[in-house]
This record gives sequence, C-alpha cells and structure tokens, in this order.
Amino acid sequence: MNSIVKEDVEYIYNNVGKNLEKFKNSNVFITGCCGFLGYYFLHFFNTFKDVLGIKSIVAVDNFQSGKPEWIEDIAKNGNIDFQVFDIIDGDIEKLVLDKSNSFVIHMASIASPVFYRKFPIKTIEANIWGLKRLLDLYKNETLRGFLFFSSSEIYGDPDSAHIPTGEDFRGYVNTIGPRACYDESKRFGETICYEYAKEYNLPITLCRPFNNYGPGMKLGDKRVPADFAKAVINNEDIVILSDGKPTRTFCYIADAITGYLKVLLHGTFDVFNIGIDKPEISILELANIYAEKGRKLFNYTGKVIYQKSEEKNYLTDNPNRRCPIIEKARTILDYKPSIYVEDGVERFLKYINEEGLK
Ligand SMILES: NC(=O)c1ccc[n+]([C@@H]2O[C@H](COP(=O)([O-])OP(=O)(O)OC[C@H]3O[C@@H](n4cnc5c(N)ncnc54)[C@H](O)[C@@H]3O)[C@@H](O)[C@H]2O)c1
Repeated sequence: MNSIVKEDVEYIYNNVGKNLEKFKNSNVFITGCCGFLGYYFLHFFNTFKDVLGIKSIVAVDNFQSGKPEWIEDIAKNGNIDFQVFDIIDGDIEKLVLDKSNSFVIHMASIASPVFYRKFPIKTIEANIWGLKRLLDLYKNETLRGFLFFSSSEIYGDPDSAHIPTGEDFRGYVNTIGPRACYDESKRFGETICYEYAKEYNLPITLCRPFNNYGPGMKLGDKRVPADFAKAVINNEDIVILSDGKPTRTFCYIADAITGYLKVLLHGTFDVFNIGIDKPEISILELANIYAEKGRKLFNYTGKVIYQKSEEKNYLTDNPNRRCPIIEKARTILDYKPSIYVEDGVERFLKYINEEGLK
C-alpha cells in the first residue's frame, strides 16, 4: 500500500476509536466504491476487516468511468466482494448481499461539477431514485447504520450572515440553474432519508461534506485540488479558472473519512457538517500552496496563471464562500479534524509522486 495511505488509514482507525467496535459481526454495503472517497473507505476496510470482526463487505459501482487499477490490488486478498451495479436501474435482486446487521454507505453519485453538469439526469436519479431503492431494500432489515452522502452544496450560496454555515441554515439554492441537479437532488435525498427514518425507525444519518481533497482523487476529475496537483506533478502552470477570490476550507481525506465513520456509527437519525473549519482560504492562496509545496518537493518551476474556462457555466452559481461550523460533530461525535491544508497538500503530492501518477 502507498505509504501515505497506510499512515492515513492508521490515523483514521485511531481517531474513530472505540466506536469501531460496533462493526463486530456486521455486513457492510458500499455504493460508489470506485470514487475518491470509496478509495479510502475500501483501503480502510480492507486493512481492518478482520480486526473489526466484520462478516462481509460488498462494494458496488457502475464503473462508468472504467474500473480503476487499485481495485484489482484490493481484490487480491478477497476481503471485499466487488459487484458491478447501477444504483439507478441495476437488477437489485441479483445483488449477492447479506442484508442482516448491516451498515450501508451510499456514495454513488456524480460528484464533480463539470461531470454532473454533463449528466444532470443521471445525477438526480442516483441521489433520489437510487437512494430510495436502497432504502426500500433495507427498510425491513436489521439495519445498524445507513449513511447518505449529502453535500455542503445543499446550502447553495449563503449570505454573509450565514458563513461560517451551521446545520440549521436552510440554504440559498437555485432550483433551475446548472448546479441544481446536484444541489436539489441532495436536498430531496435528505428529505427521503428523514421520512424513512421516521416511518421505519431506521438509524439513517446524513453527512454534508465540505470540500475534501487528497489521495484517491482522480487527477482528471476536474475538481480544483486535483487540477492543481496534476499541474504541479507535470511541472505545468497552475491554471485558475475564476478570479481566484472565492474561498473554501479544504478538509484532508483522512480527517473527512474519520468524520464519516463517526456519523455512520452514530446510531440515530441526525445530520452533520463534516469538514474543517479553518483556514478559509482563497483559490489563489490554495494555488500558491500547491506551487510552494511543488517547489519544495520536486523543484517545480511553473507559475500560477488565470484563464477563462471553456465551459460556459463553469462559474454559474459557484458559491463565493464555503466554510462550515463543525461544533455539532465536535460535541456529539468528538470529531477533531487536525490536518491543515499545507500538510494535506504535501501529503497529496507525495502520494501522487509515489504512485507515479501523471
Ligand atoms: N469529495 C467531496 O469533497 C464531496 C463533497 C460533497 C459531497 N460528496 C459526496 O460524496 C459522495 C462520494 O464523493 P466522491 O468524491 O467519492 O465522488 P466520485 O465522483 O469520486 O465517486 C462517485 C462514484 O459513484 C459512482 N457512481 C455514480 N453514479 C452511479 C450509479 N448510478 N450507480 C453506481 N455507481 C455510481 C461513480 O462511478 C464513482 O465511482 C458523492 O455522493 C458525493 O456527492 C463528496
């Protein structure tokens, strides 16, 4: 295993802590396993399946952008059963699955804005009908936890009075813009979860991720941290496709996965922001961090430059600021993200270099 990922899964294990005992004798089902977050969940479960006493792990994806090579490596020891399955219209009867005592992690969705704008209907279908099919599959089972991946995008573009943003902010979202397929389907997905949790007394939990980055992100996935990493590793200029002023907090993947596992194991319906609350930095500052780390690690010689995106809607409804309040997760789940963006970017670049990615 890559040395950075190895350290990270240990970090996750140690930080989730005692709660992990809840996995004993459970069956875990994961959708969207081939994506960025799936990469970490699968490395984590592959490493600790036996230690945690998990009975079975089934992971599915529709492999719409191909089957990644790392899946083959993980599949070697037989800890995880991979099945090709489309959450929207795959034949659910054909899934080979022990549904008793289950933890379900539902991530299948197109997550990168460039790609969800290309496939808006599929994005809606995965977050709504795919989710509903899954809830129907499990509603009468002995479910121990069901984690739906919502998004910080359900908040839309909050006014300054609501930044940083807490879970009680109701959102300022465009129902008909180019981002609406994602934002609104995540919002309705949350409502479906809320109603199923009440009606069937299910331990469904919702996480709202705030801008994760790090190992496992596909370099061609067109999210900003991946674009910048690709530029540095290829010694090309870092291209900013906005005026560089929008701000975000960037949560390194190991902190994020720690939070998601804590939310999954929470046991009763609730919703949590998962991210890091500082520093809130501009896209230009992020680009400069990548450039500086690139110079330190690989004698990077590129510059930070500005260009206009070829995609007409690239910046439409792009939130100007995104910063979470994570007090709720801190207090209730003892969630304590601690990897700041400089360290995280360095880890991400070292990982890419060790993997020989371009
Ligand atoms: N990474 C983040 O910062 C972030 C932020 C907010 C929300 N999220 C949410 O977290 C989840 C995981 O994010 P990610 O970054 O790993 O996304 P990703 O795009 O890297 O991975 C998503 C995976 O889902 C699969 N998928 C898509 N539609 C499917 C379908 N119909 N059936 C089966 N598989 C399907 C894709 O093939 C892909 O492997 C998503 O639901 C996303 O919306 C992530």
